Amino acid sequence: MISILDFTRDDLEKLFEETDNMRKRLDEGNVPKILSNSIIALAFFEPSTRTRMSFETAAKRLGANTISFTSEEAISVSKGESFADTIRMLDGYSDLIIVRHKYEGAALFAAEIAKAPVINAGDGKQHHPTQAMLDLYTIRYLKGTVDDLVIGVLGDLKYGRAAASFLLGLTHFRPRRIYLISPQELKLRPEIKELLMERGLNIKELNSLVDVLPELDILYVTRIQKERFPDLREYEKVKGSYRISSKLLFSLAKKDLKILHPLPRVDEISYDVDSTSFAAYFTQARLGVPLRMALLKLILLGGES
Ligand code: NCD
Repeated sequence: MISILDFTRDDLEKLFEETDNMRKRLDEGNVPKILSNSIIALAFFEPSTRTRMSFETAAKRLGANTISFTSEEAISVSKGESFADTIRMLDGYSDLIIVRHKYEGAALFAAEIAKAPVINAGDGKQHHPTQAMLDLYTIRYLKGTVDDLVIGVLGDLKYGRAAASFLLGLTHFRPRRIYLISPQELKLRPEIKELLMERGLNIKELNSLVDVLPELDILYVTRIQKERFPDLREYEKVKGSYRISSKLLFSLAKKDLKILHPLPRVDEISYDVDSTSFAAYFTQARLGVPLRMALLKLILLGGES
């Protein structure tokens, strides 16, 4: 599982139905331990909170065991061991490998080395397919559909893989219009923009949220990806350049606007938004567990229950 583009709309609908099922099972406290024979490796070469912990929670809820590391410093890569050798080891120990890495292509490389299935938990600045699945599922959960909506994507569209993957995921659906809102320096990279247009998305780029905020059904916000800037002086120039407050939302947004954010948040959404009905990012994070449960089940057991 490398890119959200490897899936079809039908695959995603099937995943979403299984996620509904897992959500129900969790609510009822009735989760079958269908993965009790599985060991899942969490190979996180780059920091993570939600992705790693929701995968781990999902695995454990279904009865699987996990083995994991959470940084390169913690494993023998720090002694000079290669990425390939590390993956070969994990392939010998586990039934499924979940990889996060700072370099794009790391998950695909791991999938070429390992016999076990590999899930990309975010590599480089383009792919984070399970986050995109979660984002799309959250919209379906909140709005009943992903089609016909006006969606704004605000923030670091240049370096943010969550935003890029979300946009690629939207190409499986028919949203009415997508606004790409970012400071000039953080515009979406042209190759992704072209891909979105080729795949039929109706997109418009702009620098300021205010003009389009009244139209939006969904606002997807991302942080500025400080760690991916080749030159920190460039980061300093754009730091703090957008911030959503409850005052802004109450004065301009539709009442049923929902705000998503892959998290972590830094300063782009002020804390006073959290207690409003606009905030959906903690719901989104919570839904990461049933979604990843459904994914693990479909990958390890196929369609059977
Ligand atoms: C994102 C990531 O790592 O790409 N976080 C996540 O997985 N929820 C977004 C980010 O770090 O900004």
